[in-house]
Amino acid sequence: MTQAAMTANQEGPPVPKEVNRQEILRILAGHHHDRGGLIAMLEEIQDSYGYLPEEALRIVSEKTGRSLVDVYGIATFYRAFSLVPRGRHLVCACLGTACHVRGAPRVVEELERQLGIQAGQTTPDGQFTLETVNCLGACALGPVVVIDGRYFSKVGRSRIRQLLDDASAGVEKADTGDGAFPIEVSCPRCNHSLMNAGTLIDGLPSARMTIATENAIGSCHLSSLYGGSGVSCELEIPEGTVCQLFCPRCQGELAGDWTCGHCGAPVAKLAVHGGGMVYVCRRRGCHSQRLDLECVNG
Ligand code: FES
Repeated sequence: MTQAAMTANQEGPPVPKEVNRQEILRILAGHHHDRGGLIAMLEEIQDSYGYLPEEALRIVSEKTGRSLVDVYGIATFYRAFSLVPRGRHLVCACLGTACHVRGAPRVVEELERQLGIQAGQTTPDGQFTLETVNCLGACALGPVVVIDGRYFSKVGRSRIRQLLDDASAGVEKADTGDGAFPIEVSCPRCNHSLMNAGTLIDGLPSARMTIATENAIGSCHLSSLYGGSGVSCELEIPEGTVCQLFCPRCQGELAGDWTCGHCGAPVAKLAVHGGGMVYVCRRRGCHSQRLDLECVNG
């Protein structure tokens, strides 16, 4: 939940701001009314309000011509959306198999103990909401905990206090600091490493792939830092173009079976060294055109 969604009261439970019809209409005007546009507008509404208020969803339905059932269907399908206000800070712990065997249940127990709530609940002061998920796609790095959108790998019980204190204090961990991690990726077809030390992005070896449009083919490099937005491409590709990505070694397409949770375009799938998968949206300019652990939808 963003701070913008809350009132200035930092002591008591957060008070969601009232729905402003004009603001919702402004958000709607900035997006297409197809499925990808609908997801993007819901995302923007949630950024503004911290959740998806019923009144806002009714306006979306009214103005896009989609049934309320359809709008609710999308709002409830994606885990990132919430129909109820969450705490100021969202703590999400992975309980998938790989994280489980590496001690995730003890991490969740410690989170519950220190926050004084069970998973799925919000602290009475509205500071923290604790949720669990089944896999975040970074299995080799578990136990994984995500706090306010930042991933923390190999989390043990002893780190919990510091992570919660940092979140409360609004401490932003540097991307290359203790709380974030670079990802090394390879082709899921031939296992060839895609890491390229010759092109550094965010100060790290980049992930190199072949990129193709209807008219051209070339190389592109993505930041290997989780969530890093650095992209270097030798082709000039117009924003919005859906590209294909290939392994430079076996030439196999890095196709995923899923679609981008942000824009609805198909994604490319890459294997993480040590286990797990990451996904890259194939639409040029989508803010998920980066190594992303959870932007997809099956
Ligand atoms: S099981 Fe936790 S990231 Fe996959």
